[in-house]
Amino acid sequence: MKFPDLRIQLTPERKRNLITLAVGLAISWTLASLMACATSTKTSGTTPLYQQLGGVTAITQISDRTLDRVSSDPRTHRTFANIKMKALKESVAAYVCKVADGPCAYEGETMRNSHADLGITGAEFDLMVEILREEINRANAPTGAKNELLKRLAPTRREIVKNS
Ligand code: HEM
Repeated sequence: MKFPDLRIQLTPERKRNLITLAVGLAISWTLASLMACATSTKTSGTTPLYQQLGGVTAITQISDRTLDRVSSDPRTHRTFANIKMKALKESVAAYVCKVADGPCAYEGETMRNSHADLGITGAEFDLMVEILREEINRANAPTGAKNELLKRLAPTRREIVKNS
């Protein structure tokens, strides 16, 4: 018995078109794979700082505890006398969270404006940073993440301190 010849007869032009299509698909697939690889490296390769510090909840706790201590310590409490602490805590937590690349919206003033009339001294600033360091330690955050956060906050010193 003779089977019919099912092979598709391609003209040279159709062959060229098919080859062009195949090469195009291969290039698109390679590019898509490379882009997917780059994206996944970005999201899973480096954990955002706020997550390294324990997430938004941990940052809020660290910030709240720091403010509780500086607003009651005799060496730093003077500027907090007439301040609504609940609102200040929310604002500072959002600021620190944002500095740590967290998903928080900080809607307050710049560091220069919000501290402009407080006459904060270098000693007051340094003590607050020391307390912050202790509270980050207490939260068991990794040393690298702690140092990175403190490094990012360090430049605010020249905006906040008025009397060194
Ligand atoms: C790394 C250091 C500091 C950071 C990141 C920081 C951050 C902030 C933020 C985000 C606010 C709220 C601004 C707003 O909502 O518009 C604020 C306000 C305030 N900060 Fe600081 N601060 C720092 C150091 C200090 C120090 C050393 C003191 C005093 C010892 C201090 C005392 C205050 C007071 C009293 C306010 C309230 C001002 C007001 O409402 O009139 N801060 N700070």
